[in-house]
Amino acid sequence: MSDNKKLTLEEIKARIRVVCICKGIKMSRICDAVQNGAKTVEEVNKATGSGNGGCGATRCRPVIEQIIKNGGRPLTSSLPSDSTDDDDPESAF
Ligand code: FES
Repeated sequence: MSDNKKLTLEEIKARIRVVCICKGIKMSRICDAVQNGAKTVEEVNKATGSGNGGCGATRCRPVIEQIIKNGGRPLTSSLPSDSTDDDDPESAF
């Protein structure tokens, strides 16, 4: 079931980005889960451990949905984890 098309450089870089910030789950794991047969967010969460963090999946669910729609290929657009929100006191060090 694996997508054998070669990844672009941007897609390869995207695989190391964190999708589920609460649990530290990278895009590579989400993509692998989808390519291995996960068809819903719940199935991806079960396979990877994503989606049960403090935010209640409000940040990662939309990204996981997009990855599923994308057939398990990495997303090269910006993610919630890419935010450089200056109001976040934890990012100020
Ligand atoms: S980012 Fe995935 S549960 Fe919060």
